[in-house]
Amino acid sequence: MKLADRVALVTGGGRGIGREIALAFAREGADVAVAARTMAQVEAVAGEVRALGRRSLAVRLDLTDRSSIREAAREVMEEFGRVDILVNNAGVLSKGGVADLDESTWDTTLAINLTGPFLMTQALLGQMLERGKGRIININSTSGKIGLPYRSAYAASKHGALGFMKSLANEVAEKGITVNAICPGLVETEMWDSSVKNFAAEMGNTPEETREMFRQRIPVKRYTEAWEFAPLAVYLASDDSLSVTGQAIQLDGGFLQS
Ligand SMILES: NC(=O)c1ccc[n+]([C@@H]2O[C@H](COP(=O)([O-])OP(=O)(O)OC[C@H]3O[C@@H](n4cnc5c(N)ncnc54)[C@H](OP(=O)(O)O)[C@@H]3O)[C@@H](O)[C@H]2O)c1
Repeated sequence: MKLADRVALVTGGGRGIGREIALAFAREGADVAVAARTMAQVEAVAGEVRALGRRSLAVRLDLTDRSSIREAAREVMEEFGRVDILVNNAGVLSKGGVADLDESTWDTTLAINLTGPFLMTQALLGQMLERGKGRIININSTSGKIGLPYRSAYAASKHGALGFMKSLANEVAEKGITVNAICPGLVETEMWDSSVKNFAAEMGNTPEETREMFRQRIPVKRYTEAWEFAPLAVYLASDDSLSVTGQAIQLDGGFLQS
């Protein structure tokens, strides 16, 4: 077991990529706190973690609400006494051209994808520094590295999150803490499902045509599935990745070669 007796917190762990990471961590021996807004999903995943023989905690978290972030971190610390692994996975994809993008869309996107992960990291960093040990993994995006037309708030938030990740990695490199990002391309989750519908409406295509058009752009000609992120997250959370820090690793079917 690569994560025996570690304590992890996975934000957005109720579904999609976060759920797969939470379950993989539990299979590797970690206790896992799962946090998001939809408590039915969060509690279901916490139940799955317990069924794997590990402790879990279902935590209500709304990254647009700063007090909710502080409260979630406090609850996890109270239950487990420490957090060894923080996965900042929760995120939203917003749409809208710059000319008429409303400010609230911009603010909410940055709050969830950039400021929220900063505040959650800040809330849990002190106890990692005290113990001289920690792993921080941020789920970013290909859009953290290249622009995405009509999705500028998302791309800006993800670019910002990569800058934050790299800066923090340098800050804590000598303190036993690694900080990395995983950058998905197009992944079969709820986020992509609703995105396909939006792209289809914008391009005047059917969702099926849109899905096929994007699939053709992926060198491996298939969408990534959520479970594929779990082995890499386990590696980045484990002692095996001792010398890997400040990295933004693409996992996208060869879409962006960097
Ligand atoms: N799917 C893709 O193609 C793709 C591509 C590139 C990057 N990514 C990134 O991968 C990560 C996971 O996305 P996914 O594809 O697994 O999407 P998903 O299935 O929609 O899951 C997103 C998770 O984030 C949580 N979340 C959203 N808003 C939140 C808020 N205000 N506070 C707390 N939690 C919130 C959601 O829970 P609640 O709604 O219940 O709060 C959910 O658990 C995201 O950071 C996303 O940007 C995904």
